[in-house]
Amino acid sequence: MKLDNFIHKKWMIRAISLASLGKGFTSPNPLVGAVILDKKGKLISEGFHEKSGMPHAEAMAFDNLKDDATGGTLYVNLEPCCHSGKTPPCVDRIISSGIKKVFVSIKDPDLRVAGKGIRLLENAGIEVNLGLCESEALELNKSFIYKNLNGCSYGVLKWAMSIDGRVGLENGKSKWITSENSRSLVHKIRADFDAIIIGGSTLRNDNPILTTRGSKKVEPLRVVFTKTLDLPKKAKLWDTDLANTLIVYDSSTANEENLRRIPKNVLIEKIPSDDPKILSRILAEKGCNKVLWECGPKLATSAVKSGCIQEFYTFIAPKIIGGKNGMNPFSDFEFKSMDEVINLNLKEIIPLDRDVYLRSHS
Ligand SMILES: NC(=O)c1ccc[n+]([C@@H]2O[C@H](COP(=O)([O-])OP(=O)(O)OC[C@H]3O[C@@H](n4cnc5c(N)ncnc54)[C@H](OP(=O)(O)O)[C@@H]3O)[C@@H](O)[C@H]2O)c1
Repeated sequence: MKLDNFIHKKWMIRAISLASLGKGFTSPNPLVGAVILDKKGKLISEGFHEKSGMPHAEAMAFDNLKDDATGGTLYVNLEPCCHSGKTPPCVDRIISSGIKKVFVSIKDPDLRVAGKGIRLLENAGIEVNLGLCESEALELNKSFIYKNLNGCSYGVLKWAMSIDGRVGLENGKSKWITSENSRSLVHKIRADFDAIIIGGSTLRNDNPILTTRGSKKVEPLRVVFTKTLDLPKKAKLWDTDLANTLIVYDSSTANEENLRRIPKNVLIEKIPSDDPKILSRILAEKGCNKVLWECGPKLATSAVKSGCIQEFYTFIAPKIIGGKNGMNPFSDFEFKSMDEVINLNLKEIIPLDRDVYLRSHS
């Protein structure tokens, strides 16, 4: 690699690592970091998008400037915006700064930008280099990109199972399959998500809390998906001091009389069917880029079948649960041949002190 390329890559990796500091806080916005060098190549500022509603990465970097940026270079992992939202367009700020060169990793899939930001910079006489650290930038913002292209939240399905592939006893009990360490890792993992989804049956059987246990200041939205609205009068999820709870129900099958049991602080939304894709779309509209499905076998199977799941997190504990009708992570996909089964790409195998944590994607 030529020295120049090595240096450019170094600064873009710096922008990407700054961007990742916003993980879990920027939705519906992307993760963006920016680095500014002066005309001699000295670092004069940097910034990142901390939270939705806060300044964009480029704006933060310009606010933090320690020296004149005229003739300088900007590194940013996503195409700068050219529309006014909660904050003014970054493109205008770049042009007025006198910066001469901009390195951008990827275009913004948001149709309000989608290449327009780059064109405006070029029209203003700025040299724009697109594609530096493209794969790292795509990986960092995969949920933002997925949501913008598909109109649905990026879904991750998580389950914990025994070494014989069981997620619970025949009687529905599943506390606890994995070790305390694995469970506290799950609390931390939740911090990277905008919402956590379960089905009505998991709520009735497990009465979970579904929080990050304080790893995140604003806890992810807790979502209960139900066809019946047969939900208990008392549940930990009804205490919304810790985190908001949303019940989404299928109005074609639910008994709406049951709504009387639900406290007023719980958010409620009805949809016309039990299609998980509609739920995923609603959550995307609410600004959720990335959602974690922590449901049992029935809803997990429906979510996979309807294309709501892009990644799979599996915790495996060295326990044998057995049972003729023990609970599997999924119910029947009705595959008739091995050619039909779902083939995943294993991305990571992480040994924990006692359990194993696998990350795969479709
Ligand atoms: N080991 C693990 O990782 C793990 C994780 C989660 C759950 N579990 C266990 O799983 C058991 C519950 O399993 P489950 O499969 O009934 O899970 P679930 O998470 O409760 O999902 C099923 C429920 O989701 C609702 N639902 C809404 N739309 C649906 C659709 N299109 N397809 C299917 N369900 C839909 C229904 O609620 P209504 O009945 O209210 O209409 C349905 O009963 C519990 O015993 C729990 O302990 C284990």
